[in-house]
Amino acid sequence: MIKMIKTKFRRIVTKIPNSNAMNLINNLKKYEVRSMHGQLPVVWDKAKNFQVWDKEGNCWIDFTSTIFVANVGHSNPKVKKAISSIIDNDLLHSYTFITEIRARYIKKLIKSVPKQFEKAFLLSSGTEATECAIKLMRMYSHKVGKRKPGIISFEGSMHGRTMGAQMLGGNQKSRAWIGFDDPNVHRLEFPYPWVLNGKISGKEKFRHDIKKLEEKVNINKDIVGFMLEAYIGWGAVFYPSDYIQELSKFAKEHNILICVDDIQGGFGRTGKLFAYQHYDIEPDIICCGKGISSSLPLSAVLGRKDVMDIPDVGSMSSTHSANPVCCAAGLAVLEELFDKNLIKESERKGKILHSRLNEIKEKYPNRISYVLGKGLLAGVLFINPKTKKPDADFATKVCYKAMEKGLLLVHTGRESIKIGPPLTIPDNALDEGLEVFEEAIEEAEKQ
Ligand SMILES: Cc1ncc(COP(=O)(O)O)c(C=O)c1O
Repeated sequence: MIKMIKTKFRRIVTKIPNSNAMNLINNLKKYEVRSMHGQLPVVWDKAKNFQVWDKEGNCWIDFTSTIFVANVGHSNPKVKKAISSIIDNDLLHSYTFITEIRARYIKKLIKSVPKQFEKAFLLSSGTEATECAIKLMRMYSHKVGKRKPGIISFEGSMHGRTMGAQMLGGNQKSRAWIGFDDPNVHRLEFPYPWVLNGKISGKEKFRHDIKKLEEKVNINKDIVGFMLEAYIGWGAVFYPSDYIQELSKFAKEHNILICVDDIQGGFGRTGKLFAYQHYDIEPDIICCGKGISSSLPLSAVLGRKDVMDIPDVGSMSSTHSANPVCCAAGLAVLEELFDKNLIKESERKGKILHSRLNEIKEKYPNRISYVLGKGLLAGVLFINPKTKKPDADFATKVCYKAMEKGLLLVHTGRESIKIGPPLTIPDNALDEGLEVFEEAIEEAEKQ
């Protein structure tokens, strides 16, 4: 039986997934690669602010922001207007020929970010940004005369799905296709809370692990950079601050660059402009994507002038770099973030989100092991009550239950569910979504 739902913010009027959606999805599957098909079976027809509609009139509260992109709200009117003005002026593409909008956007971007980021390079996807950062760090190692261009990254981290990004990534299985491990990539164990377990501080953990690496590698001669995901994406797991501060001190002592992959956490998501700012450090390079445009394909690498300007004219650009329509979207996002005080709003609403999630955790202590994240970003980690082991199936069940009730959550395929509504979500819609999240857990538990 179909359970109809009509509330202020949700509307479910058909079976979910409905037959039209399933027909379309199954047809698409015939022609499109299966790697594109990990998300929930909802066919998006329209997305506005914090809500998503399908053609049948079902309406969901969106706790995904289309996976941390729509920070200033879906179809934000200012972003739409900026995009339309470029389109209406008949300028869809320019390769690297200069456009006025590109000049305006890049100036505004650099003026809006911490001062050590002096230059910007625009690209289309997050993975291109991390590839570019790898190239810059390695070129820097030649510039300063290091013996090897070694980079230290972290087990469990994710930097994209292209070759360089996966070479650095911390998942052995997902880089196996490459056929070899880069001898100039070294990985440290991620200091998860369950690894430190209250027994060792972040600072001690860093010193301990780097000492082990120093036994194998000459740090001064053979390491040029750290590549850090601002937090581990799948669970919104932040490093302990004292770990990163010690890492930053170490990097300075050994002339090692720090590059932060802030692709997921940037542009206000965590209650600061960039997620790394929670650690009180000054990275040399940062990779941005997702929320940067809240819509169109846009990413960026920002960094120190002496690093960013190493590649020669023409040796680091891409056909779609700095597309004028994407630049217009990026500029409007920055204006929205600052004019509407959305970074502060993310911090304020984040307190509502985390306090409510912690209440739910207290109610289900045998099911929820951790509530992690900051600002309007949360990771809820589930365990099996009997085995106490991570429970990915339960997390999936909760995502499907929530979908049937009109709430979209980030399905990770792991033991975590991630929550990241647009920063523009009103408080009462956030509250309603959290009620539904709790109901979904309760129903999955009963099942
Ligand atoms: C931390 C991080 N780095 C890189 C990427 C890759 O970005 P894209 O999918 O735009 O290539 C992602 C995407 O999920 C990410 O979360």
